[in-house]
Amino acid sequence: MLDNLLQPAASANDFLYAKAAARRLSMVTCYDYSFARLLSETAIDGILVGDSVAMVMYGHPSTLSATVDLMRLHTEAVSRGAPGKFLVADLPFLSYRKGIPAALDAAQALMSAGAHALKLEGVDGHEDVIRRMTESGIPVMGHLGLQPQSVRSYGGFKIQGRGEEAGREILRQALALEELGAFAVVLECIPAPLAREATSALRIPTIGIGAGAACDGQILVLQDLLGMNPDFRPRFVRSFWDGAGSIHDAISRYDAAIKSGAFPAGEESYQ
Ligand code: KIV
Repeated sequence: MLDNLLQPAASANDFLYAKAAARRLSMVTCYDYSFARLLSETAIDGILVGDSVAMVMYGHPSTLSATVDLMRLHTEAVSRGAPGKFLVADLPFLSYRKGIPAALDAAQALMSAGAHALKLEGVDGHEDVIRRMTESGIPVMGHLGLQPQSVRSYGGFKIQGRGEEAGREILRQALALEELGAFAVVLECIPAPLAREATSALRIPTIGIGAGAACDGQILVLQDLLGMNPDFRPRFVRSFWDGAGSIHDAISRYDAAIKSGAFPAGEESYQ
């Protein structure tokens, strides 16, 4: 446990320095050891063990099924694979809405699993929790706009912050997060002009997903940027690889090689 807490990595302060230096921040989600190892060899600035693990790795329809135990297991795996990377873990649904002691227990579980910072959604109603965490030395990343843990109250995954009042509300919440000591805020699926306004109003960096190019950084789900799920192509996702096609192709060649007798070859066998 102590080993994890002492891992060297970039810090939340580096995110603030990056904003001050107008250097864009890159983040990606990761849920497992083998992808984490690959990410550790890249220049990516930060990894998020997102509660989207419930959807991407377990096939649930929303993030509501993620639990602290699940997040702890995946945080440990990613931390083992990428010990030198700045690692943010998501506090799952309701884990920070049951009062300060329960929230701190959840935070402790994820920090001792290797997280360097924690992300939580929204601000209203859990200001006390955010303040206690930041005052306890836990770097907190906010998440505004489309908050996937509120999907039931939206009635689906919908763009947020459209219209003047809704936009003002997101700006208010972003400034409140900064005031409470958050070191960064994810802005998900909001109009690009609103994200631009928030980015210039805040001293802390904004990390956008579906929030346009003016954010201080960007994040995507790893499997989305790798093109692993061609059926999921919202406007804000860019596939940087045809993962699904390449993987199908490799598995088909493997299958064919077995069936033709070409695999394993002599040099792939113990003589
Ligand atoms: O859980 C997640 O993947 C996230 C990103 C979409 C920001 O919160």
